[in-house]
Amino acid sequence: MRLKTFARCAALLNLSLLCLASNQFLQAQNSPVKLTIHADRPVSAVSPTLYGLMTEEINYSYDGGLYAEMVRNRTFRGDWSGVNFWYLVEGGNSAAKMEADKATGPSSALTASLRLDVQKADAQNQAGVLNTGWWGMAVKASTEYKGSFYAKASGSDMGPITVSLVSDDTGKALATATIASLTGDWKQYSFTLKTAAAQASASNHLAITVAHPGTLWLQLVSLFPPTYRNRTNGFRSDLMEKLAAMHPTFLRFPGGNYLEGDHIKERFNWKETIGPLVDRPTHRSPWNYQSSDGMGLLEFLGWCEDLNMNPLLAVYAGYSLQQEHVNPGPDLEPYVQDALDEIEYVTGSADTKWGAERAKDGHPQPFKLTYVEIGNEDQFDHSGSYEARYAQFYKAIKAKYPDLQLIATTPINNMRPDVQDDHYYVRATKNFQDANHYDKADRNGPKIFVGEWATREGAPTPNMGAALGDAAWMTGLERNSDLIVMASYAPLLTNVNPGGLQWDTDLIGYNAEKSYGSPSFYAQAMFGSHLGDHTLASTADGAGAKFFYSITAGAAKKKLYLKLVNAASTPQAVDIDLEGAKLASTAKLISLAAKDTQATNSIDRPEFLKPVDSSVTVTGGQLRRTMPQFAIEVIEFDQQ
Ligand code: AHR
Repeated sequence: MRLKTFARCAALLNLSLLCLASNQFLQAQNSPVKLTIHADRPVSAVSPTLYGLMTEEINYSYDGGLYAEMVRNRTFRGDWSGVNFWYLVEGGNSAAKMEADKATGPSSALTASLRLDVQKADAQNQAGVLNTGWWGMAVKASTEYKGSFYAKASGSDMGPITVSLVSDDTGKALATATIASLTGDWKQYSFTLKTAAAQASASNHLAITVAHPGTLWLQLVSLFPPTYRNRTNGFRSDLMEKLAAMHPTFLRFPGGNYLEGDHIKERFNWKETIGPLVDRPTHRSPWNYQSSDGMGLLEFLGWCEDLNMNPLLAVYAGYSLQQEHVNPGPDLEPYVQDALDEIEYVTGSADTKWGAERAKDGHPQPFKLTYVEIGNEDQFDHSGSYEARYAQFYKAIKAKYPDLQLIATTPINNMRPDVQDDHYYVRATKNFQDANHYDKADRNGPKIFVGEWATREGAPTPNMGAALGDAAWMTGLERNSDLIVMASYAPLLTNVNPGGLQWDTDLIGYNAEKSYGSPSFYAQAMFGSHLGDHTLASTADGAGAKFFYSITAGAAKKKLYLKLVNAASTPQAVDIDLEGAKLASTAKLISLAAKDTQATNSIDRPEFLKPVDSSVTVTGGQLRRTMPQFAIEVIEFDQQ
């Protein structure tokens, strides 16, 4: 009996010792960070263009993504299985067959078409083709969809042509338009489909049918919903709104690997992406699908205009991914000339050759251009030709455009480039360890553009653990923004349907109907919309390996922006002492937090994690903020 009591007491003692120890552990974890900020001691400038967007055709970013075109494979490309994403319609007792026809097309760029041979059809028994869209076609009630196609027919009695948006579920037409008749020559026809009451859904398709036997050829079938700011050939509003929330100041385009192509002939050949869509031949992206090139050079510039971003133009520099390169010297000259022409298309007045071309394409006003990037990731060119290629482009571009800043895609030794593009794709742990990467970097070398970076954890979009890695890294970008003139997360977009993704961990996910921002997206939006123009002197005592911060001030609006990152699994108290400024007694707090690093958003739970706004009280320049576990926070102070 006594022994038992003794054993029980010993067990209890052990337990309490354990509790004491773990409390001490918690206590140690929780000891506050003492953060002292000297608002009257500026340290270094923050680049006004620090945050921007990097983009390319990957993960169905444009086709099936930002570019609002609803028809998939509008130019009727086929393979052994048939004409992709197009199917035959034989209503009632009608009979027809369809096939790709290489012998006729509406332009020298689109020399083929879809041939529909209708043996039997009448008004009640129509035959034709249907397109299934980008994993469906999103249709809403009371909405106008604008469409067009090129067509010719074997006889003028081939009309009328009926175009309908049809529900996959009910087989009912949600909107219909008719084209009275066709001719024997290629011609473009336009139509509007207006829905009445309809359940918003992506389970719909587009059907084009006829009520008469004969032969019909079709090419470039297109359908657009209302676009962001009603831009013709424009962009999906939901995605543009998300991008706008990031407050991006520049757009790096058109890539990335997409600029280079797998082979030289598959590079982003900008001259084949301008003008009417019917004059764009389309091309294969290195991400293994055909690009419609609806997003051509002028559309990228329009995107910049819509979101008030500076274009950062990447020009093809003579290297393609399958180790094909163009020798520097005379062989490279046509590519250098192409880049000069491209810059003229962007910046030249309407009385220059390529400026006139841009005016003809609908934009007489030149665009402002500051940065041109020469190639992409040329460290992968095993021939070692980049230094000479960069130098050749540099000399020619500077001779004509001395004010342009020319970005090198990898460190080079034979000269000092204006700017160097560094890329980082890492795990969160690496970003925690490397958040001070640029703290001691040479300030006499080239300026830095962190043109691609991401914490790669989570698929298809990053989870909270990744967002914490991102936020830690961004505190380092801000601290070193006297050197780092620009930075852009990559990749930006992914279609989340099966087969839509080529690269894990993309900032924003979507299907045909809906989109969502990942925790990393919210981290970007929080940082991008709270950026001062200089950093302030500060010290942090007692900060552990998973605590990060950045303090910047905006002179014009008299704001101080404090970003805090607690990547630990326990709460973190922070005693903040702001000296040298008279502050308002309340400050705005924006907090993004999760219970676990694996917590995330998805197409079905788009806002499981999102920032929450509140306010905190500031007394005599001081406040204690206890951050939750796994948290990214911004405190915006007003100076009086
Ligand atoms: O962002 C995905 C790819 O990563 C880019 O196309 C390329 O530049 C990099 O290797």
